[in-house]
Amino acid sequence: MFITFEGIDGSGKSTQARLLAEHLREQGRDVVLTREPGGSAGAEEIRRLVLEGDPDRWSAETEILLFTAARRDHLERTIQPALEGGKIVISDRFADSTRMYQGLSRGDLRATVDRLHDMMIGREPDLTFIIDMDPGEGLSRAKGRNGHEERFEDFGEDLQRQMRAGFLALAKEFPDRCHVINGARSAEAVAAEVAAVADAALA
Ligand code: ADP
Ligand code: TYD
Repeated sequence: MFITFEGIDGSGKSTQARLLAEHLREQGRDVVLTREPGGSAGAEEIRRLVLEGDPDRWSAETEILLFTAARRDHLERTIQPALEGGKIVISDRFADSTRMYQGLSRGDLRATVDRLHDMMIGREPDLTFIIDMDPGEGLSRAKGRNGHEERFEDFGEDLQRQMRAGFLALAKEFPDRCHVINGARSAEAVAAEVAAVADAALA
């Protein structure tokens, strides 16, 4: 089973991905916890190229290619081998993030994102948790982290609002795999709902 977490910055994806991995490992399951951009040595190198430096560093199209290149490496070297070995893969972000961030934020490039996805990735998750919450709250959580991967964080609250609406629309577009979870609760309450949905899907 291939499980992904999606949602705006600061919504709690990393926290929930980790808590779900712990929950499933306690059941004796073999879990690989990974993230995007990154998740393999090559993709982590591309992560630095896309998340650090000048916000105008890449054109929208080049950015789509870089995220997709990172994803292809992640798929070949980490995700595919783990799934073939019977493991559960949990990824903090995957292709839905490119559909949203590169597909919506700098003009309507969704068709380009989808074409490249079909050509180079061609794999959807079995289960996707969309952690939904108010962008203001998400942004203040994300800013609290104080890192140097800031190319996307200065997009501000308007873009985060657009991304939130986009993720909710995506859940309607892919209703079989997407579960929208209210992220504006304690981490434990969110984790309990996530675990219940995952347990039901695995049963
Ligand atoms: P994301 O991966 O979606 O950006 P994180 O899991 O990194 O989100 O969470 C962002 C920040 O908010 C972190 O400092 C984390 O400890 C905190 N956080 C995560 N979940 C919650 C929650 N349910 N309530 C309050 N703070 C949270
Ligand atoms: P991430 O480390 O998950 O940040 P956060 O914890 O703040 O959510 O992702 C870093 C940024 O990369 C995030 O702002 C979204 C962006 N991103 C894209 O623009 N496209 C993509 O395909 C992916 C995977 C991430």
